[in-house]
Amino acid sequence: MFIKKQNPRQVAVKVLTEVLENKKALKFALTEETLSQFDKVNRAFLLEIIYGVLRNLFAIDWVLEEFYKNKESLSSNTINNLRCSFYQLMFMNIPAYAVTNEAVNTEKAFFGKPAVVNAIIRAFLRKYENEDLPSFFHNSKVFSDYELRAKKIPPTLSIAFSHPKWLIERWSNRFSQEELVELLKANNEKAPISIAVKPEEREKIAEYFQKKGFKSRPTKHSPAGLIIEGQGYDIRKTLTEAPFFWVVQDEASQLVCFSLEPFEGATVLDACSSPGGKTILTAALMKKGKILCLENSRIRIKILHNNLKRIKRFIPDVEIETKLVDVLEFKTKATFDRVLLDAPCSSLGVIRRNPDVRYRLEENEIKRLAETQKLMIEKVSSFVSPQGILIYSVCSTEKEEGEEVVDSFLQKHPEFSSIKILRTFPHLDGMDGFFIAKLLRRE
Ligand SMILES: C[S@@+](CC[C@H](N)C(=O)[O-])C[C@H]1O[C@@H](n2cnc3c(N)ncnc32)[C@H](O)[C@@H]1O
Repeated sequence: MFIKKQNPRQVAVKVLTEVLENKKALKFALTEETLSQFDKVNRAFLLEIIYGVLRNLFAIDWVLEEFYKNKESLSSNTINNLRCSFYQLMFMNIPAYAVTNEAVNTEKAFFGKPAVVNAIIRAFLRKYENEDLPSFFHNSKVFSDYELRAKKIPPTLSIAFSHPKWLIERWSNRFSQEELVELLKANNEKAPISIAVKPEEREKIAEYFQKKGFKSRPTKHSPAGLIIEGQGYDIRKTLTEAPFFWVVQDEASQLVCFSLEPFEGATVLDACSSPGGKTILTAALMKKGKILCLENSRIRIKILHNNLKRIKRFIPDVEIETKLVDVLEFKTKATFDRVLLDAPCSSLGVIRRNPDVRYRLEENEIKRLAETQKLMIEKVSSFVSPQGILIYSVCSTEKEEGEEVVDSFLQKHPEFSSIKILRTFPHLDGMDGFFIAKLLRRE
């Protein structure tokens, strides 16, 4: 596809096709390099469309469906162009003529079907000229028959909140209808911008942000966290110039580092370490000591190196070594005071930050991931010193990847006991969904 540089609508279509058709992760389809081509306004617009379409995909498709004549003849780009346009019409305050013109121009840019796009948007505008749009309800009531029959609301929670059917069914077995709706809603909300700083510097840094024109508030549970309000672009720019230690990190991830109880002079093994957020905060908390980071992905270890390079000067007394290795094949005679296994998982706890996760994940992958997690915890447990702490964490809401992994491990390992189990949820705690188990090796 030919893409005119600097056109956010065209880039949005391309990225959505990469994510929804080619199943590429959003974080790889939409890179910082692409974003850096745009000025502040266009960058915000591009992000709003991409995240907005992904958060409301099934609801948009449900409305869009009745306007297709011959959907099979349309390319993924055309369908994504229509989704972007419908998102702007349904959820943003953009004038209809601007949306229509831009949609037609975008379609022309990749030699699609401008006449079809034009006809579909106009049919939508005619239908909803004098009629309310279906309400895209972000409320938790149970819908009435009248509303359903009148097509005032989408017929299922799956469509209303754009989560796959299998996930809704899975969660329906676990949560009440009310709580389920709260979770789905929270998953579609923008996550706050949260950073971790050295706890002893938090107050001063809040003042720094205030002087720069940003409101901030401390996180409720993590002594290191600050939630910063404002445009992502401005906050990031301020952070790049900031003369103190910081790392962008959700509160739940910060709690993982605090659970580890890093102390001055400790030796730490971070078994799955990239991009390094937890290594970095752990290093800042312990001030002095050694961390060995393992990572099996060549690409991701480079990201880790870059992140470590940035903060090195703020934690000069922590020696951080990295190793490109599969943790399951890692060998050492050493043992560590603290071992962190922040295992690869389904990521179902971080849907609000990664709205594409729900469309890429298949239910049977949860079982497969849990098998790997069991092998990993088994392996890393042998590196924990007596009286040492092992933290097992996953950004997953699912018991198979959390409680069940730890229960099956503890059954086989009486030398370990569980000190604390923590579960966080976006709708209950306003933070990412994490499972954190703190285990003590007694002997
Ligand atoms: C959940 S992420 C870790 C996030 C990291 N702890 C942080 O806070 O920034 C899991 C990481 O483990 C890596 N990984 C997956 N399988 C691995 C394996 N078998 N051995 C080592 N690393 C692995 C992934 O590439 C990924 O970078």
